[in-house]
Amino acid sequence: MTHTAAQYVVIGNPVAHSRSPFIHARFARQTGLALSYETRLAPLDGFADNVRAFILEGGRGANVTVPFKLDAFALAHEHTARALAAGAVNTLSFSDGRIAADNTDGAGLVADIEGNAGIRLAGKRVLLLGAGGAARGALLPLLDAAPRSLTIANRTAANAEALARQFAGQAAGRLQACALTALEGCFDVIVNATSASLNGEVPPLAPALFSSNTLALDMMYGAEPTAFMRLARLHGAAARDGCGMLVEQAAEAFFVWHGVRPATGAVLDELRAALGQAPASSS
Ligand code: ATR
Repeated sequence: MTHTAAQYVVIGNPVAHSRSPFIHARFARQTGLALSYETRLAPLDGFADNVRAFILEGGRGANVTVPFKLDAFALAHEHTARALAAGAVNTLSFSDGRIAADNTDGAGLVADIEGNAGIRLAGKRVLLLGAGGAARGALLPLLDAAPRSLTIANRTAANAEALARQFAGQAAGRLQACALTALEGCFDVIVNATSASLNGEVPPLAPALFSSNTLALDMMYGAEPTAFMRLARLHGAAARDGCGMLVEQAAEAFFVWHGVRPATGAVLDELRAALGQAPASSS
């Protein structure tokens, strides 16, 4: 029996639940590329050794998920500007003994908002909830999309303020930071990058932050709408989950590796169906 080594993997711990093999298999079929993409479980204290072993097995690239995005940053020899800005890495490429690092999460978020939800970010008032790794990864791509203003709001205000200081140089005065409870005004786009939804919680948000023209996007996803999405709809906003961002960050990684940009619409529909979502649950 012959065995073909996996060329591409998603490395995490845990990782069995990852939808990335599903998505990349569909991109490969669509673009006619022959490649394998599997999950790979790395020990919590053994990420670097695991990656080196994969490279020796013939690995060409890896997506990296929780909890290894900082380890991936540290392991790489080269980083793109967006990986440096994010301080974390979700896409590694291996060639000629070098490890190159990228972060496609923020680009995936922007592509989902602009391409799938049809909202141009240029000139918009954007609110980013959270100041952890997920929020940091989104900041530079959001700023690059030229919003009128970008407000970072966090449960712990000091963390939001630290993040805003870090990106002040790229923000041209458009970046503000405050506590969740100090937010004022209404926003065109609200992105939930907190981990509150993981616990079925929702950040304390005043109804006036939302309007019928607001798009509220939760980076989390599941079979059912998250608590944040339900709150946004209650206040009249449109809401989407993180499925589109997931598919778009995968498409961006596919482009990084293969130089081909796959179409994402049908794959997003298939992913939603696989998750057991009702057809209307994304808007
Ligand atoms: P990630 O890598 O997913 O961003 P993280 O770095 O641990 O995870 O950051 C989690 C973020 O979610 C933080 O901004 C955290 O707020 P604090 O800085 O105040 O801890 C936020 N968060 C977590 N649970 C929350 C909740 N129930 N309500 C509001 N914010 C929450």
